[in-house]
Amino acid sequence: MKQEMRSGKKTKQQKEETNTMYLVTGATGNVGSEVVEQLLAGRKKVRVFTRDPGKVAHWNDRVEVVAGDLQQPDTFAQALADVEAIFLMHQGPDLEVCKQLVAAGKDKGNPRIAFLSTILASAPDSQIGKLHKDKEDAIRESGLPGTFVRPGGFMTNLYWWIGTIKTENVVRNPMGTGRLASIAPEDIAAVAVKAMTQDLPDEVFELTGGELLSVPQQVDILAKVLGKPIQCVDVPTETAIQDLLRIGLPAQAAAAIGASFEAIRDGRVTVVKDTVEKVLGRRPMTFETWARRHALRFV
Ligand SMILES: NC(=O)c1ccc[n+]([C@@H]2O[C@H](COP(=O)([O-])OP(=O)(O)OC[C@H]3O[C@@H](n4cnc5c(N)ncnc54)[C@H](OP(=O)(O)O)[C@@H]3O)[C@@H](O)[C@H]2O)c1
Repeated sequence: MKQEMRSGKKTKQQKEETNTMYLVTGATGNVGSEVVEQLLAGRKKVRVFTRDPGKVAHWNDRVEVVAGDLQQPDTFAQALADVEAIFLMHQGPDLEVCKQLVAAGKDKGNPRIAFLSTILASAPDSQIGKLHKDKEDAIRESGLPGTFVRPGGFMTNLYWWIGTIKTENVVRNPMGTGRLASIAPEDIAAVAVKAMTQDLPDEVFELTGGELLSVPQQVDILAKVLGKPIQCVDVPTETAIQDLLRIGLPAQAAAAIGASFEAIRDGRVTVVKDTVEKVLGRRPMTFETWARRHALRFV
């Protein structure tokens, strides 16, 4: 083996590694973009699937690009050639279409699927959880090797506050002092990448961040990071839902998020999982580290 490396020839394992293709849907999103970056950092070949290739132009020739829509399975099938594993989003396809996407995968060499689900998939009364669980089950029933990455609330949900922070130095808070261990998409992506590239012993990974923080505590940290005072103003759930509609969220999503605001406010989701540490061998990213990395978004 050493001789082959010295002579510049690739070993069989190296050849396989070089030719292995990883397909990333949602590559323009919070988690998918991190999945792409981390696969590239691991010297993997990456193909991204997007409705708008212009949004992935910054990767230049470092990634292959397939233009398509998850709601149109034929466009997805075109992205599947020689794919070892897929990072698949819930967002986009409805359940019947999701089954067609999975069937297309079965036809093209049984790739692994790392599916971005939600921690609510195990909550029997959650409508949003059920939407994700139904898709998980479609993947399970297909027989494709599936891993279900189930995060709780994302730190990137704070991007909903960008408008009022920029214009008024205010965060409108429907969650009172309820606390949540929100998670950085960087950590979700790291678990997904591990599921795409290695055999993991478990099928389901419920993920949270490592610190329970209330919105006022997050706002204090963000104010320190941005170097300016930010006021936290309590608002009713309905006002927060209207705010989400105003920044473009669909009505169903805004209503579901409103329900999760109430769950946080009432202390029903004060759960901290140690999954990130178990899978990655390190602590989850802290909120302050995440805020420093993404501070420019808020100015
Ligand atoms: N936010 C939370 O607290 C939370 C908690 C638990 C689970 N989740 C899960 O995470 C998801 C959000 O992840 P994120 O924040 O990374 O996403 P995001 O930043 O909102 O981006 C959405 C991505 O979905 C892609 N997409 C949407 N519709 C599509 C379609 N029809 N065809 C192809 N691609 C489509 C978009 O790709 P293009 O525009 O490039 O086509 C974009 O890259 C939620 O939908 C939910 O399933 C979120």
